[in-house]
Amino acid sequence: MAKEERILVVDDDVVIRELMTDILEDEGYTVVSAPNGKRALEMVRESADIVVVFTDIMMPEMDGIELIHEARKIAPDLVPIVMTGYATLETARAAVKEGAYDYVLKPFNLSEIKLAVTNALERRRLMTENALLNEISELLNISESIASILDEDELLKFVLSAALSRVNAERGSILKLNKDGKSLRVVESVGIPADMQNMEVSMEGTISGWVAGNMQPLLVENIKDNPHVATFGFDLDTPSFVSVPIERRSCSLDKTMVSQTGLPNVLAVMNVTDKRGGGVFSESDLKLLNIIANHTAAAMENARLLKDIEEGQREIIFTLGEIVETRSKETGNHVKRVAEYSKVLARKFGLTHPECEVLRLASPLHDVGKVGIPDAILNKPGKLTPEEYQVIQTHAQLGFDMLKVTKGPVLQSAATIALEHHEKFDGTGYPQKLKGNDIHIFGRITGIADVFDALGVKRVYKEAWDLERILDLFREERGKHFDPHLTDVFFANLDEIIQIRDAFPDA
Ligand code: C2E
Ligand code: SIN
Ligand code: SIN
Ligand code: SIN
Ligand code: FE
Ligand code: FE
Repeated sequence: MAKEERILVVDDDVVIRELMTDILEDEGYTVVSAPNGKRALEMVRESADIVVVFTDIMMPEMDGIELIHEARKIAPDLVPIVMTGYATLETARAAVKEGAYDYVLKPFNLSEIKLAVTNALERRRLMTENALLNEISELLNISESIASILDEDELLKFVLSAALSRVNAERGSILKLNKDGKSLRVVESVGIPADMQNMEVSMEGTISGWVAGNMQPLLVENIKDNPHVATFGFDLDTPSFVSVPIERRSCSLDKTMVSQTGLPNVLAVMNVTDKRGGGVFSESDLKLLNIIANHTAAAMENARLLKDIEEGQREIIFTLGEIVETRSKETGNHVKRVAEYSKVLARKFGLTHPECEVLRLASPLHDVGKVGIPDAILNKPGKLTPEEYQVIQTHAQLGFDMLKVTKGPVLQSAATIALEHHEKFDGTGYPQKLKGNDIHIFGRITGIADVFDALGVKRVYKEAWDLERILDLFREERGKHFDPHLTDVFFANLDEIIQIRDAFPDA
């Protein structure tokens, strides 16, 4: 193994420094040394490669304890080891309590030194790995939340506060590019005067404008060293800030639009400033903010896509749903309840948020095929003959045939749901006798929601069932009619289901 790690030896006794240097160099390490804490601290500040410090305790200028204390402020990963004689053993133990990792006894024992270094490096490796793991899991949490928020304002609010806390910044803003592509508007801010909210910011001569126009992040450690940026006249309390573009991914959907209008590929810009404790933002802060910005862009596109779907298709979907309801004399809110139950089940089952939304919009169309069933059968006030029931069952295929010619995710899903909402998990349903997971998850979910609702209301052919009776049937049909896992999800979230039932009562 190449030993690139630098070890710093600090002792006012030159003999000790040379001895330690020899021992460690023989082991293949690069060694630097200093005669006192003050000089050592300068070296830690200058060289990020120093990973282990062996330090004497009593030294002029700055003693070992203070050195450890100060050095760890600069380099938290640094592993300090105290060198001590028997006379100062108690002090050494105290030093360990205050942040030294270990101590070694003078006069030196070769194997003890080797072991201390090996342990220290192992310790450092674990610390670094742990920090990395924490960082990654923290980021995964953030990206998961980002992907799940569909409302753009809510999304940007979350993103800004997550970003600020990840990089320890006290102030920040998100500016959205206006439709004309010529200016930006502050849509979210933290720690910034209230009158700046909604402020219009020009693309020319501003930091955000530059970042948006050039599609490049900007990390400024000190604005005074950056005359170009300084001319933007950006009034900062601290001189360091990061500004990142929130860019479209290469979204083919939007390509034509971009070339037609000449809009830049930037959706927004996020600025953070005022690092806690007056610190300076680093390259790793910039990387982190870029990752957050990428996830944000993806989520914004998802949200916008869904909004388009909703606006374009909501009308036709509800119109169709209403026709079905009117024809089958089902009172008002059946399809609304089925939609909301389906969405809850989908979310708790673990489908993605776009999938849940598509299902919510599509599930009200499950019975659209009933428009093709003769009135005399559909609204027969009593029990159906087997022949009549055969006719009713064709509503699944009829609905699919009506919807399959459509384009777009919602109506395509609605076609599948129409076809599969009467399939049963054990393969005894209709029309295709599909079994288990061969039934699309949307069909399995809508099937449960539909039966739950149908049983609870009065139909021309049946009275409403009370809840206990419905739940008994659900327990009985778990794994037969219904997907067992979904049935468990249903029972686990019964409170929420009941809330929906009560929120959309029949007229
Ligand atoms: P729907 O009224 O929307 O009922 C949907 C599903 O809920 C039914 O699918 C069934 O799985 C369940 N369900 C509803 N009522 C009862 C019930 O009293 N007992 C039990 N065990 N389950 C019930 P299914 O059976 O495939 O029926 C599909 C559609 O056929 C029904 O939609 C309804 O429009 C019609 N239908 C079914 N049976 C009759 C009937 O006896 N008379 C009339 N007029 N229509 C019927
Ligand atoms: C901001 O208020 O964050 C934008 C000002 C600028 O980018 O110059
Ligand atoms: C997501 O939720 O992260 C996107 C997945 C999808 O669009 O289905
Ligand atoms: C989906 O996630 O959209 C469907 C997956 C499935 O059929 O289970
Ligand atoms: Fe049906
Ligand atoms: Fe129904």
